[in-house]
Amino acid sequence: LKSATGQSHAKIIFWGEHSVVYGQPAICFPISEIKTTVVIEQTPTGQHIQSRYFNGSLTQMPESQTGIQLLINTILTLLDEEHTPFQMKISSAIPAERGMGSSAATAIAIIRAFYHFFQHPLTHAELLRLADVSEQYIHGNPSGLDAATAGSRVPIWFIRGRRPQAIPINQKAYLIIADTGIMGQTGLAVQHVKKQLAENPQAQPAIEKLGANAKAARTLLADGNTPKLGAIMTNSHHLLQTLGVSHPALDKLAGLALSHGALGAKLTGGGMGGCLIALTDTSEKAKKIASLLEQNGAVQTWIEPLARMNHKG
Ligand code: MEV
Repeated sequence: LKSATGQSHAKIIFWGEHSVVYGQPAICFPISEIKTTVVIEQTPTGQHIQSRYFNGSLTQMPESQTGIQLLINTILTLLDEEHTPFQMKISSAIPAERGMGSSAATAIAIIRAFYHFFQHPLTHAELLRLADVSEQYIHGNPSGLDAATAGSRVPIWFIRGRRPQAIPINQKAYLIIADTGIMGQTGLAVQHVKKQLAENPQAQPAIEKLGANAKAARTLLADGNTPKLGAIMTNSHHLLQTLGVSHPALDKLAGLALSHGALGAKLTGGGMGGCLIALTDTSEKAKKIASLLEQNGAVQTWIEPLARMNHKG
């Protein structure tokens, strides 16, 4: 093909960050309005990459881009196209390192674009397996949750090592996503939890309770009481605090949202920075809280109606 496009989107972990690493279930939402797009074009010579981090040849990518470089080389080898010239442009509206899955979305979009460019069929299992090449490099020992959500158009129920399952959402609630502007530190946070499990007797029960909360949330999302769903969110935030992965900026935004009518609030993603999510029952309240959070330090907010999650294309 002369040119091909691959896309993916941001993700929000509703339940299960960290506990998913230890086999507990997670619930994750694709945020399809916040996209990553990769365009590959035919060119006479060279293998050129352009992104917000780098503009140059595939062989000269800096160390911070090794995960992406590794992924591209793996795809080219697999498709027997190592010497084919191309020009790739990566554009992303997903803020980096805020727990919104920007690295997994980039990987998924790159894989889709290449398979399309070379007109090669791509199974869903192969898509996730390839995304794992860069995710392993970037995040050490990822659960696969980010890649599974970046590759899904609908909310998923995810257990490490199993196929993600689509789950129905039947809630009229609204989700506010607020970016603290502070880089999350997923790798560090994952290490911190590991250390807590060895040293802090409250850590293991917290992991188990996070899993139990995800199970209760699944039922409530399908058909249930929004205030109860919110209460489970806030409880999960406290459990994540126990594990030591929150941040004062996240706690401040959570407190503000809750004291101004949010039904629940918790950090989302790896934590130690990144984003907060809060739940409301009306879009008016969601807008009010979103602007309050922006006045109090959030650098960006988004509002997602939960009911729309099922119907995204
Ligand atoms: C990162 O988005 C989610 C974590 O649970 C890590 C992982 O699942 O690999 C913190």
